Amino acid sequence: MTRIASRASAFERSGIRVMFELAEKRGGDLVRLEVGEPDFDTPEHVIDAAEQAARGGATHYTSGSGIPTLRTAIADRMTDETGVSFDPERHVSVTTGAMESLFLTLSAIAEPGDEVLIPTPAWPNYRNQARLAGAKPVEIPLSADDGFDLDPERIIEQLNRDTVAVILTTPSNPTGQVYDEDAVNAVVEAAKESGTFVIADEVYARLTYGDDYRRIAEYTDYPEGLLTVDSCSKTYAMTGWRLGWLVGPEDVVEAATSLGESTTACPSSIAQHAALAALTGSQDPIREMKNAFHKRRDFLVNRIEGIPHVSCPRPDGAFYAFLDVSELDGSCADVAERLLSEYSVVTAPGTAFGDAGEGYIRLSFANSMERLELGLDRLEEMVENERY
Ligand SMILES: Cc1ncc(COP(=O)(O)O)c(C=O)c1O
Repeated sequence: MTRIASRASAFERSGIRVMFELAEKRGGDLVRLEVGEPDFDTPEHVIDAAEQAARGGATHYTSGSGIPTLRTAIADRMTDETGVSFDPERHVSVTTGAMESLFLTLSAIAEPGDEVLIPTPAWPNYRNQARLAGAKPVEIPLSADDGFDLDPERIIEQLNRDTVAVILTTPSNPTGQVYDEDAVNAVVEAAKESGTFVIADEVYARLTYGDDYRRIAEYTDYPEGLLTVDSCSKTYAMTGWRLGWLVGPEDVVEAATSLGESTTACPSSIAQHAALAALTGSQDPIREMKNAFHKRRDFLVNRIEGIPHVSCPRPDGAFYAFLDVSELDGSCADVAERLLSEYSVVTAPGTAFGDAGEGYIRLSFANSMERLELGLDRLEEMVENERY
């Protein structure tokens, strides 16, 4: 008898997690540049709100779609940012992180065998989530030659009767790239024509370093098929609170919420109150964090420019740089492995984000300036020692 179902035994481990565990095992003075979360603590006023909520009795199950005040705050925020009106009762569901939003959404829309198009390099979880939802993930490699720009033609030519959704992550994890609006619009228009959903994963929307980011809902016209996923995790340094949401058409929101009855029933009541404080309270701590990321981004890009044989396009958002290491010896996994074992720097190999990431490693700049500097010193030392 096989005791473990194939969906679990065939589960693909995330290459980021693998590096994380290797690093944990190794220990020592490691510079951790593989981490995908802010190094800041959650703002004080958010923690206070959670404490008050817990002491005030907010310790029970809530409605599956979240407490009304938070749904209203999310709808208001989306309306403010996009100019599109969203009804908190019908268009918003609060979930346990963006991760649960994505999983419930895919489970709500995909029939067995349906295809989910994923432009890559992309966050690895989409592949497994699509599979768990019974769908088939279809990776669409973007071209390294143009900095992994979203190439609408590559996506549009893959749309077919079985395509249920296209996932667009902008700003992107792992490249930090903000997709060109015309390119996104072309994909959304084609999806609309073929009745395919577009899942906009915008967890990094408020972390951009150039012009203000415009959400996909603002400049496209596909309210019946655009599903926006976001969370408090990256914006408010709240990864551990596990609080996210889905904003989209009523039928999908309702279906995703009812599926949630079988997973978590509702997101943590205390985290929901914390999220309410995060969304409606002072945004000053967020601006400070963003400024710090901006400085580190500039620092990292300048340092990389001075190191021979490696390069990276300037990331416009999120806190990742996707470093081209194809001139160094071996695969990107070999490079990441050497950096860890010989130079004590932890990174994520590009192939963790799909085959399109071969030749790259992802560096996270969600780390202090000192650690970042030390990590880059060590990277430079490796390149010098290997004498290319
Ligand atoms: C692109 C992307 N989407 C979603 C998530 C998950 O976010 P959350 O912590 O809200 O579940 C991550 C986390 O790394 C991410 O990078």
